[in-house]
Amino acid sequence: MKQNIILTGFMGTGKTTVGKLLAETMKREFVDTDEMIVVQNGRSIQTIFRELGADAFRQMETAVALQLSQRENLIISTGGRLMLDLQNADALMENGIVFCLAATAETIYARVMADGEKRPLLNVPDPLARIQFLLDERAADYGRFPQINVNNKKPTTIAYEIEREIESVEIEK
Ligand code: S3P
Repeated sequence: MKQNIILTGFMGTGKTTVGKLLAETMKREFVDTDEMIVVQNGRSIQTIFRELGADAFRQMETAVALQLSQRENLIISTGGRLMLDLQNADALMENGIVFCLAATAETIYARVMADGEKRPLLNVPDPLARIQFLLDERAADYGRFPQINVNNKKPTTIAYEIEREIESVEIEK
């Protein structure tokens, strides 16, 4: 049995891009929890937040975390807050190694502005200030996971770094 590799970290830190690269080089299936929620509910994340509310979205995240905890050999990119819910983290970590992609508020701001994806939590007049606020609020929780600094790094470099980390964890076992 092969443990899942789980990527967490704030929005815009590159979890999906890096996860897809890892899946390719490690020959594993890639899954993205936001994408699963969209497929299972037939609504965009933006619409779920608007029509059903944040609590309903968090319940959907928990359902997806429980589904994925029953699977193996995956690369999982998680929505930015999913692993900060203890119930979700406990379920996924039963069969998974976690890495947290970390970046400054400025890096994140530049990336989320550039990728054009709609993020309900950043739909405010001053998204940079909101990013900084949420990063501060979540710092201790993200800090519990092994950190991968992604500032000024290419996705291929980050994926390579994670692969080396996985190898060293496997050697230690
Ligand atoms: C969220 C992050 C988003 C998505 C939702 C809420 C968050 O995922 O799950 O908009 O609270 O950090 P990404 O990190 O994939 O953008």
